Amino acid sequence: MKSILSIARSIEGRLDEAECRLLLATAASAAAASGPLPIVEVGSYCGRSTVILAGAARAVCPTLRIFAIDPHQGSLSHPKGELIVPPTLERFLHNIEWAGVADRVDLIQKKSFEVKWDLPVALLFIDGLHDYENVRRDFLHFQSFVVPGGLVAFDDNDGETYPGVVRCVGEAISSGGYEQIASAGRLVVLRKGTEDATAPIPEAEWREIAIRRQRAIELLRDELLSEIADSADALPEPAFEILKVEASGKAAGTISGSIDIPAEHTTISSRDFTVAGWVLGHPGVVAHVEIRSEGELVSRVPVCESRPDVALAFPAKPNAAQCGFRFAIDLSRMSVACLEVWAIPVTGHPRLLGTIRARRRTEPPA
Ligand SMILES: C[S@@+](CC[C@H](N)C(=O)[O-])C[C@H]1O[C@@H](n2cnc3c(N)ncnc32)[C@H](O)[C@@H]1O
Repeated sequence: MKSILSIARSIEGRLDEAECRLLLATAASAAAASGPLPIVEVGSYCGRSTVILAGAARAVCPTLRIFAIDPHQGSLSHPKGELIVPPTLERFLHNIEWAGVADRVDLIQKKSFEVKWDLPVALLFIDGLHDYENVRRDFLHFQSFVVPGGLVAFDDNDGETYPGVVRCVGEAISSGGYEQIASAGRLVVLRKGTEDATAPIPEAEWREIAIRRQRAIELLRDELLSEIADSADALPEPAFEILKVEASGKAAGTISGSIDIPAEHTTISSRDFTVAGWVLGHPGVVAHVEIRSEGELVSRVPVCESRPDVALAFPAKPNAAQCGFRFAIDLSRMSVACLEVWAIPVTGHPRLLGTIRARRRTEPPA
């Protein structure tokens, strides 16, 4: 089955790769936290973002619906003014049908402010016209329906081309009602404040959330793995087989984290072998993650990748939104690899997060 991101990539639109990935993680996080509460999209164009939102919803919460609001009259923002393109309704309908998500999208062919809205919202994605008046009007029209802890994502948060978006985002944050939890390219994600992020959640509800969160984690992992597999297909490199990925568990002490990529029993066909995950210190900050092999340093990266899913899981942790790490390791000269993943805190001793054992496959991949 094609990944959501590869389907979205083939639909006309302006969200780039990193923005698509963040939007997918954001929708998965919102769906995990808020379950069947709807996602509202202002500005669908040909459906690139709609497919990402609906794909995440389908994977994480089967009853969640996407309300895709767009007049489809072909009026777009452009740094130099308005850009008129052919109407987009037909292309939008064709694309969501082709992507297999039409059954969970409710099209509202109106301008945002013409919509009479009265439902709670898990995620509000604003990508209509990008001048200050329009962005602010879109935001104000829906923001009071966003549930505490719910998310608001703005596209084109770029001061040079669209200062109105930056101003509106800044005002939302300085109002004290929202905090920024992630950004990639021109996409920025805010979270609405909760009255008490540490308030206990009833057990039955918590179990539901845990199931949806697990689905969200699996979705993100599958998407990352299929992207890696896609890029590997193009390279005639020998494959590696991932034999074991072992977390060091309790030995990690005051540092918690996870190695999300690679997954056990998968094969990697590229020279660049991706290792990705997240790490959090209690209470200190983990600045870097290192990969070592037989005591030698192989690579070191900063802990700074956006992880809205972890931020959602640990709302009280200030660094959770940017606690991800990602390596591209060159295994071309190794036949067997035993890689140790170490968390390097700002103060205190390095801690082993886990180990990865990989072996070069002798036969060509099937
Ligand atoms: C930048 S495009 C959206 C891109 C889309 N999110 C994607 O991923 O490809 C902006 C869209 O906003 C729509 N639009 C313009 N004014 C609007 C309004 N007041 N309410 C809702 N949508 C609007 C336009 O018709 C256009 O399709």
